[in-house]
Amino acid sequence: IGLELVIRALGLQGEVIVPAFTFVATAHALQWQEITPVFSDIDPATHNLDPARIERMITPRTTGVIGVHVWGRPCDIEALEAIARKHNLALLFDAAHAFGVSHRGRMIGRFGQAEVFSFHATKFFNAFEGGAIATNDDALAEKLRLMRNFGFAGMDNVIYIGTNGKMHEFTAAAGLTALDSLDAFIAINRRNYEAYRAHLADIPGVDMIAYDDQERNNYQYIVLEIDAEVTGIHRDLLMRLLHAERVRARRYFYPGVHRMEPYRSLYPHAGLLLPETERLVDRVLSLPTGTAVDEGAIERIAGLIRFAVAHGHDITRAMENER
Ligand SMILES: Cc1ncc(COP(=O)(O)O)c(C=O)c1O
Repeated sequence: IGLELVIRALGLQGEVIVPAFTFVATAHALQWQEITPVFSDIDPATHNLDPARIERMITPRTTGVIGVHVWGRPCDIEALEAIARKHNLALLFDAAHAFGVSHRGRMIGRFGQAEVFSFHATKFFNAFEGGAIATNDDALAEKLRLMRNFGFAGMDNVIYIGTNGKMHEFTAAAGLTALDSLDAFIAINRRNYEAYRAHLADIPGVDMIAYDDQERNNYQYIVLEIDAEVTGIHRDLLMRLLHAERVRARRYFYPGVHRMEPYRSLYPHAGLLLPETERLVDRVLSLPTGTAVDEGAIERIAGLIRFAVAHGHDITRAMENER
């Protein structure tokens, strides 16, 4: 709802450039308002929009760019700002993963025309549901406040099209209780991240994404890239093995937004311009973390992955024979 509101409040239309390596909500917020999401490829090193590829996606109909700070690792904000300025485009950020994160020493929430956070239960700052739009533009903020309440500017006076985007008071209260513990949650996530890093470090073909320790991070995502050519076992089979051992590993953002409806039918050839996205959705595996995960669990999970990779070719062959 936050993304939808800010897209409408800024008057975006035509086409808006977004990554396909994101949660489907980023594209839906556009398509819902009959704006065409134009999928641009990512930088395989950062998993975020690759600024070098954006300009070739710009057409006379383009009105904006939405960057997504995937895993809470900020986009190349300066490069995106330069492109937006040059082509007179709006710049927004889907900051659903990036609460409590800094970029070059400045907190996420202050970049672009607006940034939108999610407080969903799976996110670092968890209020069960809800979210927030952060902007430095006072006029935009005022418009958004009215639009989230159907456009009411006072009793009996509606001045904008709006919706019910109000955060429920119970969820807001739940969020407030979580606020007090954010530093403790970061410490636990960081401890888990370091433990995974130590236990997974030397497994060939298994790379864990890194956070920039010079910045503030929430360390909310433990993300592996599995290179099946090296491990001998594909990410999907590894995930099945982990599930069999009751480890809730997840693929992300599989199979890519461009391969979900309605985009799959509307833009069947989008994948041709998304080689890095297509490659990454086949490799990424996220592992459990958070307060319910301790070092013993991490050691066990890493041990399972180590075993699966050590026997990668044998396991793959055995599973193929079973079919
Ligand atoms: C990148 C991204 N954008 C948007 C959302 C949607 O947020 P919400 O569930 O608060 O609407 C999510 C996750 O749910 C997400 O991961």
